[in-house]
Amino acid sequence: MAMLEIKNITVSYQGSEAVKDFSLMLDKGKICSLVGESGSGKTTVIRAVLGLLAGGGKVTKGDILFEGESLLKFSNEKWRQLRGSKISMIFQDSGAMMNPTKTVGAVFTEYIRTHEKISKRDAWEKAVGMLEKMRLPSGDNIMKSYPFRLSGGMRQRVGIAMGMTYKPELLLADEPTSALDVTTQAQIVRQMMELREEYGTSIIMVTHNLGVAAYMSDHIIVMKDGVVEDTGDRDHMLNASENDYTKKLLEAVPTLGGARYV
Ligand SMILES: Nc1ncnc2c1ncn2[C@@H]1O[C@H](COP(=O)(O)OP(=O)(O)O)[C@@H](O)[C@H]1O
Ligand SMILES: [Mg+2]
Repeated sequence: MAMLEIKNITVSYQGSEAVKDFSLMLDKGKICSLVGESGSGKTTVIRAVLGLLAGGGKVTKGDILFEGESLLKFSNEKWRQLRGSKISMIFQDSGAMMNPTKTVGAVFTEYIRTHEKISKRDAWEKAVGMLEKMRLPSGDNIMKSYPFRLSGGMRQRVGIAMGMTYKPELLLADEPTSALDVTTQAQIVRQMMELREEYGTSIIMVTHNLGVAAYMSDHIIVMKDGVVEDTGDRDHMLNASENDYTKKLLEAVPTLGGARYV
């Protein structure tokens, strides 16, 4: 049984279909990327998995099974148990999602204390441990900082550290590196892959950069206008896809010092 199985879902906002007949199978420890231009439906798919569609979005057809159970039938209570523990999400700019009037430490310890009954001091230490895992130097200083004082790359590491605290089985990452420079992107992508190795976490990576997808994924799904345009395992997509749109995206992969970034 696949850990996550999205079966032919259609997602609509106020009656208009944004994603149509989308399917995906993900096994434990695997990374699948969703690639496509802005507006192609990537965020809609992963928000549907987490049951957090904005703008009154609804899954109107199909099903989403997590470990064999339909997420669409989950009660609010079951969702609360799942989110942030078994399934975690990180966003394009985790720092921007944080309350600017609170330090990283206040946000992080609060997050930990909604998931387990431990003292503030223990939560602080746990958070610092996670920051160190993300190779953030002087975790204590970062905890005392306001998010806007940190660089984009540091903020994103904080976001990933939070998302990984409870060793989720599934990590949903929505363009987590898109706002960063290429070197920092590469470091963060490598760290996510290390976390996958260490924890066996499955990852759905949303990116508009096929280079990032090619570097880290086992499987790639190319989306266009709300439907799956092309799909296959990494090597197939890079070397053997006959799809013109996939080929166009491959040509658009940024280069670093003359060489393709992947
Ligand atoms: N909150 C919303 N309300 C209404 N329509 C939305 C909302 N979010 C996304 N959409 C529509 O769904 C489609 C896919 O958007 P999205 O999933 O955000 O794409 P992507 O993440 O690939 O940029 C777009 O046509 C967009 O306008
Ligand atoms: Mg998006």
